[in-house]
Amino acid sequence: MDSKRKRALVLGGNSGIGLAITEKLLGKGYEHVYIVGKDEYRDDNIQNSDIEEFKKHTSFLKINLILEDYSIFDSISDIDTLIITAGFGRVAAFENLNESEITNLIKCNMLAPIRVIKHYYDRIKSNDDFYCMVMGSIAGHVVSPLFSVYGASKQGLCGFIENINTELAHDGFKNRILDVSPGSIKGTNFNGQGNNLSLVYDLADEILDNMFLRKTVYIPKYDEIYKSVIDRYRKDPEKYGIESYDYKISTRGESSKPQIVIGYLSGTFDLFHIGHLNLLKRAKAMCDYLIVGVHKSGAWKGKETFIPFEERTEIVRNIKYVDQVIESFPEDSMAYDALHYDKLFVGSDYKGTERFNRYEEYFSDKGVEIVYFPYTQGTSSTKLRDAITKKK
Ligand code: CTP
Repeated sequence: MDSKRKRALVLGGNSGIGLAITEKLLGKGYEHVYIVGKDEYRDDNIQNSDIEEFKKHTSFLKINLILEDYSIFDSISDIDTLIITAGFGRVAAFENLNESEITNLIKCNMLAPIRVIKHYYDRIKSNDDFYCMVMGSIAGHVVSPLFSVYGASKQGLCGFIENINTELAHDGFKNRILDVSPGSIKGTNFNGQGNNLSLVYDLADEILDNMFLRKTVYIPKYDEIYKSVIDRYRKDPEKYGIESYDYKISTRGESSKPQIVIGYLSGTFDLFHIGHLNLLKRAKAMCDYLIVGVHKSGAWKGKETFIPFEERTEIVRNIKYVDQVIESFPEDSMAYDALHYDKLFVGSDYKGTERFNRYEEYFSDKGVEIVYFPYTQGTSSTKLRDAITKKK
């Protein structure tokens, strides 16, 4: 093996095909693989490698691709192989996708890979060996009803790869980016199925072979299935699309749950301070879409607010961690009935209060997690109000 081809970054390497590829890279003599993903891999998903060896030659770095902060990639500078398999989607009619899911599909599936490739592009567009593979989808190459935005994100991604491969060829560079565009992959978590890597190791091998050959497009099962699929699509896109719609419904059905984690928290946010910011930042790190309910007044706490409601909401709305602001409901449990959030966040000062004890009880059978964050010591709206009042 090429002695320089030794260190890889696998974005999405914590599960499914990304994890299988990570194992294969180690098997091919890579000395280190950086696994970057949303959650850590589960040891019991690793089937082909000795777990101790696996841990010795990998490191895990956490990222939430829908956030702006990609500085993690600044700390990974010694790689010569970049694998991007992160992404998500579900079978659903467009009217059943909510706005946050739409935004996150585009961010995760299209914008994130493009941004990461931009980060390493000086290495790709160079005369040194650099290998790169990105998970596209057959939905990036043919019409894909019930995958409207997922398909659009993959079409954008596949188009992008074709465009820059052409720039590389025109400018005389040898490195290429491989677009791997399968139909459904059995054995991965995509669309809510469990991980079973024994079903994807062969595919992982084929993907790496194509990548090392500097191919630009690899469609698994092309000769057996997808050549004729693409031909049928080209001949009559609408007819093909309608058949594909019916096929998806009969084989998979629509999945009704959005594949995003919605978080909620409420507060007064008077005299906005660092405690508020810490809470919002920590909350957003644990969900995909953060809704904040702002209390109309401080009356329920027996306090008066300094800043009018409209100004407090405007400040919270413009914090980058916040996706949506609403006027709070009298109870967070009522907000749940309207918003169906997955996580409720609050500062630890509320733990054990009558109100949160009630919520613990209310949510115990609803799958909603209540997350208490450490209360930021040293500051609070009350302290600020007191300080201002004394000065007057
Ligand atoms: N919060 C926090 N750390 C602080 C202040 C507030 O974590 N130093 C959290 C609270 O636990 C709550 C959220 O911020 O979950 C919004 O609280 P809010 O009532 O606006 O903040 P306070 O500054 O505590 O307001 P007050 O002093 O008026 O009670």
